[in-house]
Amino acid sequence: MKKYIEEIVRQAKVRARQESDAEPEPGLISPVQWPVNCDVKQGLEGAITGQTEIGYVNGPKGWLIYRGLDCFDLSEHSTFEETSYLLLFGKLPSKTEMDEFMAKLNSYRTLPDEALRLLDSLPVKSAHPMSTLRTIVSALGMMDPNSDVTTVKAETEVAIKLIAQIVTITGAIARIRKGEKPLAPDTSLSLAADLVRMMTGKMPNEEDARIMDICLILHADHGMNASTFSAMVVNSSLSDMYSSIVAGIASLKGPLHGGANEAVLADLEEIGSVDNVQAWYSLSKVGKRRVMGFGHRVYKAYDPRARILHPLAELLSRRDPNVRRLYDTAAELEKWVVGDLGKEKGIFPNVDFYSGIVYTAMGIEKAMFTPIFAVSRMSGWGARALEYLKNNRIFRPRAVYVGPLHVEYVPIEERS
Ligand SMILES: CC(C)(COP(=O)(O)OP(=O)(O)OC[C@H]1O[C@@H](n2cnc3c(N)ncnc32)[C@H](O)[C@@H]1OP(=O)(O)O)[C@@H](O)C(=O)NCCC(=O)NCCS
Repeated sequence: MKKYIEEIVRQAKVRARQESDAEPEPGLISPVQWPVNCDVKQGLEGAITGQTEIGYVNGPKGWLIYRGLDCFDLSEHSTFEETSYLLLFGKLPSKTEMDEFMAKLNSYRTLPDEALRLLDSLPVKSAHPMSTLRTIVSALGMMDPNSDVTTVKAETEVAIKLIAQIVTITGAIARIRKGEKPLAPDTSLSLAADLVRMMTGKMPNEEDARIMDICLILHADHGMNASTFSAMVVNSSLSDMYSSIVAGIASLKGPLHGGANEAVLADLEEIGSVDNVQAWYSLSKVGKRRVMGFGHRVYKAYDPRARILHPLAELLSRRDPNVRRLYDTAAELEKWVVGDLGKEKGIFPNVDFYSGIVYTAMGIEKAMFTPIFAVSRMSGWGARALEYLKNNRIFRPRAVYVGPLHVEYVPIEERS
């Protein structure tokens, strides 16, 4: 059954390779010599924060690798758990290492009762699920007596614990939002399959479980993006891993970052059908409105993650006419946006454009899309924060002051 999904990934890789010979960028793959010379633009575009062995995004060519392995190959052959191990420990695990890692993840999957009670007391139905997720991860830090130990060993343990627990929290949030009781984790299932089960209340079929696994692999790490940088900045003060992950979740929530997947679906629903795409896009151009799910700070070519998610969304859309309408609308919108801005500005679909259609086909509500992104990115946040911690120096850039100097203090009663 999984074979045809693997074939879809293989075909996506072939298309990517036909359009790109994937040359690395010399300045971004050789050791950093401090002080580093780079052209920095607003939003720290082009700034080098340090060196890493975790992952590499080749923006001009549309190439994503984790620890040397291509995201297409990982999607075809690996699992989210194995990819998390790879990101955290720098190599694919042996059978024994994988068994031990799985046993550890499984031992952490159940949430403490205090966390479940806290969830019960929060306005989970009305708050954004990312706010709930951020709050519960923060609270888990308060419940862990070792949370303030900031050695690499202790923080590695917390990262593994959170990879497991964020799945359970996300499942619980989805259920509570629908007025249902959270489900306990089922350790006989993969994290991806159990995520779908705990969110929807239904045992996923093999197709959904495998596709969710691929989604988690594809979102696990992505260079020095805003949420990863946020997590690393917090960890660099020797705060603690929970606080760092809270910062990552907070940053990912925004619509210019992880929140775009939810915004994409809202746009597709607003457009309604293929027939309305041209008029909607023309209006968005007049209003200088950004089309959610398009464009990227690094990719100026087709995002390799979108290359895989696009045909997977098409596959899943065959099962439901409503999802098919969303997919057809998205595919038509892609033609218009890429036709207009692809060559000129390097604007192509990004990871968020098709992921929402995939999740909708699995019966997952829109507000839960960004938490699913967080479930996956937990591995990248953890790996990057730990790598930096091994050779830590607190992040402390400067800003240029352009306000007045030498202003005289005027007492309040003398101010106009
Ligand atoms: C991701 C994003 C924030 C990157 O922003 P950035 O690196 O600061 O890109 P810039 O703002 O410099 O954009 C470069 C040009 O492309 C245009 N552009 C970028 N994204 C666009 C989009 N989604 N729709 C239309 N035009 C877009 C900008 O208007 C700008 O045009 P200009 O040079 O004529 O002013 C941006 O592409 C965006 O807002 N995308 C939509 C949100 C999204 O999908 N986010 C998820 C990212 S994975």
